[in-house]
Amino acid sequence: MAASTSINCPVCAAPLEQVKQPRNTLQCPTGHRFDAAKQGYFNFLTGKGTSFLEDTAAMVLARESFQERGHYAPLANLISEIVVNQGLGSNLNVLDAGAGTGYYLGELLRRHPSTHQDAIALDISRYAMRRAAKLPNTTAIVWDVWRRLPTSNRTRDVVLNCFAPHNPAEFSRVLRANGLCIVVTAAPDHLEEVRNELGMLNIGADKQQILVEKFATENLVHQGTQNLKYEMLLDSRDLFDLAFMGPAGHHLSPDALRTTTDSLQQRRVHASFDVHLFAHSR
Ligand SMILES: C[S@@+](CC[C@H](N)C(=O)[O-])C[C@H]1O[C@@H](n2cnc3c(N)ncnc32)[C@H](O)[C@@H]1O
Ligand SMILES: [Zn+2]
Repeated sequence: MAASTSINCPVCAAPLEQVKQPRNTLQCPTGHRFDAAKQGYFNFLTGKGTSFLEDTAAMVLARESFQERGHYAPLANLISEIVVNQGLGSNLNVLDAGAGTGYYLGELLRRHPSTHQDAIALDISRYAMRRAAKLPNTTAIVWDVWRRLPTSNRTRDVVLNCFAPHNPAEFSRVLRANGLCIVVTAAPDHLEEVRNELGMLNIGADKQQILVEKFATENLVHQGTQNLKYEMLLDSRDLFDLAFMGPAGHHLSPDALRTTTDSLQQRRVHASFDVHLFAHSR
């Protein structure tokens, strides 16, 4: 039997229905069909695909391993707390744009079962979406966040966007009138003790201002930014994963990086995150 979903067809934008038998399929009334991959995610980037680089299997594995060791758990906690304190009620619909493995979304769903209702995880990387597809009540979709997001206007209570490309026009379109858009960026002093050594790019100090202005043009008003800074004790395996899981992973040679990180002692390194909150103007 077909069940209605809050997901829209990437071709014609009509609401998709889900049929579980004989295959797990999303289909629209016009006849566009998307079968789930055997790992449970859907790939809407069929045909020509996209010109953006997806995170590779090795990068996604590095991210998953680093996150499983709990180094970014304080950030996951903060995101969950912010959502609860916002008092958005139960049965929240969350969309995570550029979700990666779905770590922050997963923690949010785990700590607040009321948010289990209907989550969508989007990422351009198939390897990331294989992981996110394992989250409860989550539809994981390979998709490019620069395109129209596959859900209807004003349907999402929370739009989450951590260290990933932002599309404020689309975040604004899908966010409910009283919803909350949470954008997490690395602060300029994030990992400053090891950035150069590990070949990571520097972070522009004017990033927040640019972000706030970009979102304001799409009727997303800045509600404030919280900086979360804490010290982590990282060994050579952590340092390898940390460098390889980010954008530098597209350029770094894993062997050369391993040689560098194997020669490093355990290090005290600061994580520093900016958590920006946006909402529609009331
Ligand atoms: C630094 S990772 C962050 C992942 C996750 N939010 C986290 O914090 O663990 C950036 C993610 O953005 C995804 N990404 C990059 N460009 C994208 C695009 N145009 N559309 C969707 N996802 C994209 C990458 O595949 C990667 O998983
Ligand atoms: Zn369609």
